[in-house]
Amino acid sequence: MENKQVPHGRPPRVLLFPFPDQGHVQPFLNLAEFLSLAGVHVTFLSTHFIHDRLLLHSNVQSHFETYTGFVWKTISDGLPDNYPRLGEKGFEFFKSLHVVTGKLLKDMLASGELGSDLSPSVTCIIADGVLAEFTNNIATELQIPIIFSQTSSACSLWASFSIPNLIENGELPIRGKEDMNKLVNGVPGMEGILRFRDLPSFCRVTDVRHPNLQGATRANQKCTQGQGLILNTFEELEEPILSHLRTHCSNIYPIGPTHTHLKLKLAKKEVSSPSSNSIFETDKNCITWLDSQPLKSVMYVSIGSVAIMTRDELVEFWYGLVNSRKRFLWVIRPDLYKEAEDGKNVPEELLEETKKRGYVVGWAPQEEVLEHPAVGGFLTHSGWNSTMESLVAGVPMICWPRQADQPVNSRYVSEVWKIGLDMNDVSDRKVVEKMVNDVMVERKEELVNAADEMRKLAIKSVSEGGSSYCNLNRLIDDIYKINE
Ligand code: UDX
Repeated sequence: MENKQVPHGRPPRVLLFPFPDQGHVQPFLNLAEFLSLAGVHVTFLSTHFIHDRLLLHSNVQSHFETYTGFVWKTISDGLPDNYPRLGEKGFEFFKSLHVVTGKLLKDMLASGELGSDLSPSVTCIIADGVLAEFTNNIATELQIPIIFSQTSSACSLWASFSIPNLIENGELPIRGKEDMNKLVNGVPGMEGILRFRDLPSFCRVTDVRHPNLQGATRANQKCTQGQGLILNTFEELEEPILSHLRTHCSNIYPIGPTHTHLKLKLAKKEVSSPSSNSIFETDKNCITWLDSQPLKSVMYVSIGSVAIMTRDELVEFWYGLVNSRKRFLWVIRPDLYKEAEDGKNVPEELLEETKKRGYVVGWAPQEEVLEHPAVGGFLTHSGWNSTMESLVAGVPMICWPRQADQPVNSRYVSEVWKIGLDMNDVSDRKVVEKMVNDVMVERKEELVNAADEMRKLAIKSVSEGGSSYCNLNRLIDDIYKINE
């Protein structure tokens, strides 16, 4: 991936526009670095809300400013700073992005303010697939080529793409709780695998006109209309499903696992990685704690950047972890759960037991944690970034999916790739205890072997000549060709 010869003197300028949250911004930063390493000029556009947090908690600003042509730009998400962007208010957040941010984006592109003196015009947009509905319209209107990047798995995307089928064949809306464990027929390639409980969470509605379901369907349709679709996966992992996706979108670039792919590229060019690319303050002390734990003895627990727990769920998990008598490192974000009204949050005995075998942080350097030799398992919400990070580290998972794409990922981890166990939505201390013991002791060998095989495939795909390696080169070539 060397800098290309540029025919008329100016390298391409790509506008990167992620959905504004951690799980989307982080993989887009990886994309920004791949492009910058290849000599492409990048404009990274994020909302004021995200940008402020990113600059506060990471060193990405100084890191990226070493690349010629790199520009940070910000845009409003249309909401006051203290407005909750998660949970029940999520839909309003989405609406505001479509209405307010969409209009601003169009104006910024039309006025030329997203370039720099070195390369004034945006020659290509790479937008988050989740935002495809309005970004595709803007790109079409302004005649700027657009490529979409989805931060989710191919399998979850394919399940979402099949929603119109599921509505047509009467499988949606789901009839009731009693159907959750039944198999779904209307997702080609997933017959015998996917249960109703494994469908993306926006399928859990009683009316198919629900705005979340309709919004997801419209975004999916639009994200096949760009010049290509970038995915953080690799051919060998999701081959059959990628073939199905290619019937809707012929030009797919699976370039993952992107974080490992990027590490290899940076090492080759002797460039160091940013020390953090999070919008949360990272507590690195847990690495020192891990350094003093035995090999593969620690269960790492995190449910990502947005999912929340009830106080009861938190306590059940805590008892399960403590009763398993295994060591654990747990990410309890400050906004992870709602404090109990009576002020009794966590029983004292749990805090005492945690001091003996546990360590709690507000936000961990997760990639480093999963690569640490002391980590033997990952209790996860099955967010796609987390799943890929665990897979490439060869760490078996316990899946407790919460929302969006996560249920599909969880099903594939447990039933198809067999590198983890599925907790099926349960939050019961006995189940947590048993699953932790299964992963760390009873089924350790089988799970570790399967995870190790997957790890090798992942590394091969991003190494020279591997599928993701070649797909990334093709993406860069295509971006340069657009510029010709
Ligand atoms: C959600 C979706 O579920 C996911 O599938 C989608 O692709 C993006 O949005 P999120 O809840 O953020 O994601 O989870 P995940 O995709 O796993 O991303 C979380 C990221 O935060 C990971 O890259 C992880 O390494 C990082 N993280 C998490 C930390 O760095 N430290 C932590 O303590 C916890």
